[in-house]
Amino acid sequence: MAEPGIEEKRKGAAPSAGAAQKSATLQYDGKSYSLPIVEGTESERALDITRLRQDTGLITLDSGYGNTGACRSSICFIDGEQGILRYRGYPIEQLAEKSSFLEVAWLLLYGELPTPERLTGFTREITRHTMLHEDFRRFFDFMPKSAHPMPVSAAAVAALSTFYKEADTEDRVFRAIVRLLAKMPTIAAYAYKHSIGQPPMYPRNDLDYCSNFLYMMFATPCEPYYVDPVVARVLDLLLILHADHEQNCSTSTVRLVGSSQSSLYATIASGISALWGPLHGGANQKVIEMLERIALEEGSAEVFLRKAKDKDDTTRLMGFGHRVYKSYDPRAAILKKSCKEVIERVGASSKLLEIAMRLEEIALEDDYFVKRKLYPNVDFYSGVIYQAIGIPVNMFTVMFTLGRLPGWIAHWLEMRKDPDTRIGRPRQVYTGHRERAYVPLDQR
Ligand code: SDX
Repeated sequence: MAEPGIEEKRKGAAPSAGAAQKSATLQYDGKSYSLPIVEGTESERALDITRLRQDTGLITLDSGYGNTGACRSSICFIDGEQGILRYRGYPIEQLAEKSSFLEVAWLLLYGELPTPERLTGFTREITRHTMLHEDFRRFFDFMPKSAHPMPVSAAAVAALSTFYKEADTEDRVFRAIVRLLAKMPTIAAYAYKHSIGQPPMYPRNDLDYCSNFLYMMFATPCEPYYVDPVVARVLDLLLILHADHEQNCSTSTVRLVGSSQSSLYATIASGISALWGPLHGGANQKVIEMLERIALEEGSAEVFLRKAKDKDDTTRLMGFGHRVYKSYDPRAAILKKSCKEVIERVGASSKLLEIAMRLEEIALEDDYFVKRKLYPNVDFYSGVIYQAIGIPVNMFTVMFTLGRLPGWIAHWLEMRKDPDTRIGRPRQVYTGHRERAYVPLDQR
């Protein structure tokens, strides 16, 4: 059934999907306008409205941009109906099983899997830039210990722009990319240590990316920390699964802020701020809080789901639903499988996992969720694993930040190189007052 307001121009068969229709016709105000159709690699099609306002005086209105393409991009492909996710053409399932986070980061940034020499060099560069300038100690000291680590991380990343020159040459761009990927784990671990009143642990160059992060998080000057290679590998998998996801809220924020040619560090800080929202990256923390609440009030999975379906109740089944996926999020499927392995390996409680699986089982048979095509998304199971490997709940969204960082930077790079890039400046439909005269204070 066509959506209200969109009338089929020709009754009967819709234009055949295969027809290579090159344009669409808009009838407006007694005139016909031909709008070009743009077709992507995977045959998804878009109406190019670049000249719409210039030719017709009309703009489009699309709250939340659910029907609006912001750009052409070759970084990430999602088919929400089929539950497909590929980074530069490689299926997420293959990358999850065979690749590493730094290799995926290179792939997202530069478009191809790195040669062994390139990956070795990239890894070495990142390893050697993990330390923060010693003045950052004072930065963290000024932060309240009770502060959530997401605004602390966003502020710290923005502060990097006060230490380093602008990324205005190719060499400086590469150095800025290395610094961000190298220092983000250190910033995250420092924010955590500050929040628990412990001294920060300096990074170690003898550890791999994920082992180094775990070391900085959990070692103390009084007690060494043994990095379980299985835990480090699971963390690497989590970062791969979060590395990119086309034009999501935080990536679109990075593109919009970056389009003003602001500092790359400040641009990434804006992405961190957008990701913090509970409807976006902040959902993983909300999922665990939801599962823990259900665990406390025995047998309330059914009660909780009733509230999540109640239009008068703002409760949502966190970790469920997605703007693009109208089938199972492939990342959630991979994480659900890993949950059981990790919990068994580290000997963590499986209670929250059992509740999550119970919620999924009930929801996927409930008409409310089925009709709206609401399935588990990446956040539904990720928190169960983070908790099992000892990551504190308020650090979950910071973990999402670590994963999404190469994706954000890749989109910034692509936008920067795109000759069609202009400063992002959407229009609006004004619904306020018509012109009116100022009323002096003594006459109001
Ligand atoms: C991420 O964009 C990305 O790619 C994001 C991400 C990435 O990798 O970057 O995948 C990461 O952000 C995953 C999403 C994490 N957020 C959550 O899990 C929060 C819970 N989910 C929802 O709030 C919601 O599903 C969104 C925000 C994810 C999507 O919102 P939409 O596309 O705007 O959908 P909607 O709010 O218009 O919902 C459509 C209907 C509504 O009901 P009706 O008005 O049709 O009656 O579905 C209902 C909603 O009330 N609904 C839910 C629900 N999600 C949607 N009802 C109960 N529980 C939910 N979780």
